[in-house]
Amino acid sequence: MTYDIPRPTGGDIVELILDDHRLFEDLLRECRRDDRDRAAAREALAELLVAHAEAEEAEVYPKLHSKRAITAHEEEHGEEEHAEITEALLAFVEATGTDTQKYEDALEKLAKVVNHHSCEEELTILNPARDEVSDSVRHDVGVAWATMRNTLLENGCASRDQVAALLRKAEKEGAIPPPAVRERQEAIEEDAKKRADALAEDA
Ligand SMILES: [Fe+2]
Ligand SMILES: [Fe+2]
Repeated sequence: MTYDIPRPTGGDIVELILDDHRLFEDLLRECRRDDRDRAAAREALAELLVAHAEAEEAEVYPKLHSKRAITAHEEEHGEEEHAEITEALLAFVEATGTDTQKYEDALEKLAKVVNHHSCEEELTILNPARDEVSDSVRHDVGVAWATMRNTLLENGCASRDQVAALLRKAEKEGAIPPPAVRERQEAIEEDAKKRADALAEDA
C-alpha cells in the first residue's frame, strides 16, 4: 500500500497549510493503527513533514515577515520548532521495525512536537496572515510554497540521511541546541517529571 499525498499547485497559502496540518494528523493516526502498513504511512508522513516545513521556511515565513504580518522572533521560533520536529522525526525514521516499543515511543514524541507546532503556527502565524495579508499575496505565496513542496516530494526529501543532514544544518544555524545540551535538557525534564509525580503521589 502507498499513500498518495495530494499536490495542490496553488491557492490561499493559509488554507493550503491548514490542509497539510490535517494531513499530518491523519498520517500520525495511520502510523498508530496496527491494521495499517505502518512503514508506508511513516514514509509518507516523513516526506510530507520535511517538504511542508522546508517550503514554509523558504517561501512563507520570510514573505509574511516582509509584509509585517509576523515578527523576526516569530519567524525564528517557527524555524526552531521545525528543528524540534526534525529531531523527533530522525528518531522515528531510525526506529527499526514498526511493531516495537521504540517505534511507538518515537511516534508519540513526534506527534507531540508536530501538534504543538501546528497549534502555535495556526494561532500566531496563520491568523495574522489571514487578517493582515492581501488575498493576492496569499495566493502568490501559495503558488511559491506549493511549487517547492511538490518538487521536494517529487525528488524525495526524507530519507534517513536527508533528515540527519537537516538536523545537522539546524544545529549549525543555531535553530536547535547542540546534542550535549539537548541531552542535559532531557535529563532535567525527566528529573522534574519524576519529582512532580512523586508530589502527586504524596498528596
Ligand atoms: Fe505548518
Ligand atoms: Fe511550520
